[in-house]
Amino acid sequence: MSHSRTKIGVAAVSAASVAAVALAGVAAQADPKEPTLGGEAPIDLKIGSAVWGQNELLDYDPDDPNEFQSILGSEFNSLTPENDMKWSELHPEPDVYDFSGADAIMEFAEANGQEVRGHTLLWHSQNPDWVNEAGGAWTCQEARDVLEDHVATVVGRYAGEIYEWDVANELIQDDWDEGGVKLRTEANPFLKACSEDPVALIGDVFRWAHEADPEAVLFLNDYNAEGINAKTDAYYDLAQELLADGAPLHGFGAQGHLSLMYGFDDSMQANFERFADLGLKVAVTEADVRMPLDENGDPTEEQIALQAERYDGMLQACLNVPACTSFTVWGFDDARSWVPGVFDEGYATIMTEEFEKKPAYFTLLESLTDATPGRSPRTPPGLNK
Ligand code: G3I
Repeated sequence: MSHSRTKIGVAAVSAASVAAVALAGVAAQADPKEPTLGGEAPIDLKIGSAVWGQNELLDYDPDDPNEFQSILGSEFNSLTPENDMKWSELHPEPDVYDFSGADAIMEFAEANGQEVRGHTLLWHSQNPDWVNEAGGAWTCQEARDVLEDHVATVVGRYAGEIYEWDVANELIQDDWDEGGVKLRTEANPFLKACSEDPVALIGDVFRWAHEADPEAVLFLNDYNAEGINAKTDAYYDLAQELLADGAPLHGFGAQGHLSLMYGFDDSMQANFERFADLGLKVAVTEADVRMPLDENGDPTEEQIALQAERYDGMLQACLNVPACTSFTVWGFDDARSWVPGVFDEGYATIMTEEFEKKPAYFTLLESLTDATPGRSPRTPPGLNK
């Protein structure tokens, strides 16, 4: 499998036409004449969506896509497996791997000229029972052997086909009830087994991933990691420690799960810049903007406008830092969003349950169109970090 970039037709979109279409509330169509997010983006910035392959892509027929598949295939040039490459889905028993959902995403991406971000290899959550149960009893060497085998198998299977990997996800907790900002050595079964030197294990996970796929750009990834704060200070220290130890760490991802219940951290661009100054790529990996809704389940006009502003705030931080390689939304339609299942909030994505494009969609589209003429790179060759 190889993933070649397809260039989608570029059409200039004026603010007036964007607003007119937004007001008309036209449902998203896979019309090749219409501009798309991926098609408008600078050539050096991928625009992605998460997708759950097991749920949405097993029945994919390139000649007869459903509406969701059609939009996913045309609007984005990068896909992230929402769940299919997590341990619980991929590796449910010690000797059993199930690649069905992950393979469905790879095949869909290839059919649509899209790239894939891998997610994720080391996380405290969504591990299978056998890992959670064994975790407390493993010696560090046993944990290392299990993890190395998993990383070599999974990264090796897709070597050369995944451009970025969220190697380590949510390594640092920032819950003050749980003792503040620190590595999740209790909750993560692998870090727990190697709690005497968890950073050495983290460095090795990056090494194993790099050995299995020397081309992939390897990321740390977390939430509450947009602006400069105690958590990202800890990541900044961890990144420096890993780099000083020669670990092949290449990127820092801010998930971008925002809520209108909180403000927007204007230091996001500065945060990206400091990681870029370490020589790392940066990315917005899981963007969505949720909000509390009224008794009918509807947002207000003000919330809808503010949502567009927040999405755009994250995109601008990325556009303004040439080291920012990808901007991914965590699902593009409210029907498939993880948010209502977890929070008493909703309306988090850029399209409604009926695939109607929200003002947030049009704001992103306009910003991408305006960012660089003719999709040229944001920084001339040679000046890129
Ligand atoms: O485990 C069962 C599976 O066996 C079964 O096939 C499936 C049937 O629906 O249910 C499975 O569990 C679901 C699991 O995803 C799949 O592994 C859970 O019900 C579901 O709640 C779970 O939610 C996911 C969540 O991560 C779990 O932590 C969300 O869909 C996914 O959007 C969310 O994604 C995370 C990122 O990976 C990391 N950053 C935060 C983000 C949002 O929580």
